[in-house]
Amino acid sequence: MTEASPFTETTGTARYAGFAALAENGPVQQVTLFTGVPVWLITGHAEVRQALTNPDIVKSITEVPHRDHLPPDLIAAMNTHLLSANPPDHTRLRRLVSAAFTRRRIDALEPRIRQISASLLDSLSASPVDLVSAYAYPLPITVISELIGVPSLRQDVFRRLSSIVTTGYAHSAEEYVAAVTEMVDLIRDLIAEKRSDPGDDLMSDLIAVRDGGDKLSDDELTSMVFVLLVAGHETTVNLISTGIYNLLKHPDQLERLRADRTLMPSAIEELLRYDGPAMVTVPAHTKAPVRIGDVTIPANQVVLPTLATADRDPSRFSAPDSLDITRTDNPHMAFGHGIHHCLGAPLARLEARIALTDVLARFPSLRLARPEEDAPRNPALLLNGLARLDVFTD
Ligand code: HEM
Repeated sequence: MTEASPFTETTGTARYAGFAALAENGPVQQVTLFTGVPVWLITGHAEVRQALTNPDIVKSITEVPHRDHLPPDLIAAMNTHLLSANPPDHTRLRRLVSAAFTRRRIDALEPRIRQISASLLDSLSASPVDLVSAYAYPLPITVISELIGVPSLRQDVFRRLSSIVTTGYAHSAEEYVAAVTEMVDLIRDLIAEKRSDPGDDLMSDLIAVRDGGDKLSDDELTSMVFVLLVAGHETTVNLISTGIYNLLKHPDQLERLRADRTLMPSAIEELLRYDGPAMVTVPAHTKAPVRIGDVTIPANQVVLPTLATADRDPSRFSAPDSLDITRTDNPHMAFGHGIHHCLGAPLARLEARIALTDVLARFPSLRLARPEEDAPRNPALLLNGLARLDVFTD
């Protein structure tokens, strides 16, 4: 069994070279992850689509770091959400959540996202500056906090806690359990407050949402807010920062975009395909033997659909390793595929459009502080993001 190491690489060049080498072993293969867990890695575009639409490949309670130290009620409050649910539970949850997470609510956010973006750019310190910590990180977390209805005074606490929660294995069990406990308590308090005093926010809508006699339970509400806080910012940070980085690394593409801003939507799709924020989907397992491509995967195996290779599959994309912001035939799966397709995709696209437009307009001579180097990446199983992005803005 080969070892799947691209996840722990800390440069984009090494990471994508590692993924390309794995893809050469075939579209469906058994590998050992850096965590020591054996999984079936699905690397081909067609095969990933098959895996993400096969009803015998199901999600389970998502992997929780330090699980043995967490009481069951805390696990339920973190994990009763869309990404750990299967039909019919998933169908029911998704219907309830979609009724609150509407297109109208997202579109209405545009002026406020512009304001947050402008004020972050106004307060950038002298050049060179790390765009990840000064801009790409605070923008989506402020947006998601306001969307959910987290009062501004408590946003910093949530920010600190969700950063510990998303990097769970890097912390001691005590620290992790304390952060999860505090976060769940804060969310439960917030739900109680919104119950007695609803506002014009997503949390109040999620509390109020009804489908016939059905509504979200307390654990479902807590867990949904938990996952939105985490999914809603860790990924979008990466799209904004790697997006800017890849444009700076490809000056010809950057010039085209600067010259013709109508290319922004296709540029964002291409940035999602070329270097997307999620390397893989959340792991799933086979509940019966399944045939993917030419391979039969036995029952009770862990399956890992790999978006990083599917979106660069040469049998689906022409010149897959080239960044081409005018690409039109681009069925990438950066937001997943099938029933778990990202609920936040319209919000992520809106934030990326505003962020890229603002940053390019504000800094006509934006450039990398160390153009000869690969910007450092965070090692992770799921998320593909830059640890920092140092640029000159003047
Ligand atoms: C699901 C990627 C932003 C909320 C997913 C999935 C992917 C993904 C790949 C599917 C995972 C799977 O099948 O295991 C991304 C990317 C984003 C982004 C690349 C930014 C560029 C957001 C935002 C939100 C969000 C902003 C919320 C505000 C969700 C939720 C699901 C999900 C709730 C679960 C949907 C379900 O299971 O039915 N996302 N996401 N995401 N995402 Fe996103």
